[in-house]
Amino acid sequence: MKFFVDTADTKEIADLAETGLLDGVTTNPSLIHKAGRDFVEVVKEICGIVPGPVSAEVVALDHKEMMREAEILRKVADNVCIKVPLTIDGLKTCKALSSEGTMVNVTLCFSANQALLAAKAGASFISPFVGRHDDIGFDGMALIADIRLIYDNYDFGTEILVASVRHPIHILEAAKIGADVMTAPPSVIKMLFNHPLTDKGIQGFLADWAKSGQTIG
Ligand code: G3P
Repeated sequence: MKFFVDTADTKEIADLAETGLLDGVTTNPSLIHKAGRDFVEVVKEICGIVPGPVSAEVVALDHKEMMREAEILRKVADNVCIKVPLTIDGLKTCKALSSEGTMVNVTLCFSANQALLAAKAGASFISPFVGRHDDIGFDGMALIADIRLIYDNYDFGTEILVASVRHPIHILEAAKIGADVMTAPPSVIKMLFNHPLTDKGIQGFLADWAKSGQTIG
């Protein structure tokens, strides 16, 4: 399972990249606003930190304008992945860009049929939003399972990128279903490392080691 971080905070990205466990980055207009920096400049910096796919989202709603924005964004770096919304114009843009060999992440997916359309449009990634789905009383993980089944039925190469991840259980469930990628805020990724029994175990081992009076080397 690939791990992407869902942020435009370059310091957080650099910190996580140091672990060697980060495979890519996703951004969206809200995260760019939160970072408070120039969009193209921050995407360029992120692409220099992480060699994997870095999603940068178009904000136009019509196909022609989406293509114009995508043209600017894809020139920023080779690892830019153009993010488009799951609309008719978004999928037209996805089809055009993917036919030219550009990576595309189709975002704001809330149904398995939408995911089927994105795969047919040649998307590199489909981003179902599990947290926002849960928020309105639906089962976000059931959506991931349905998409996995459909993509496997037809051998679609589109990767399932579980987005709107709110807690470690989302990641656990997504991994059990066999999702290809998850993207989560830095705080949620950091939670994965922690367990109270790991901390307690380290304390116990260090206390006994100190009593042994030994050193290594
Ligand atoms: O990047 C898209 C997605 O991960 C947004 O998550 O928490 O705003 O629903 P959230």
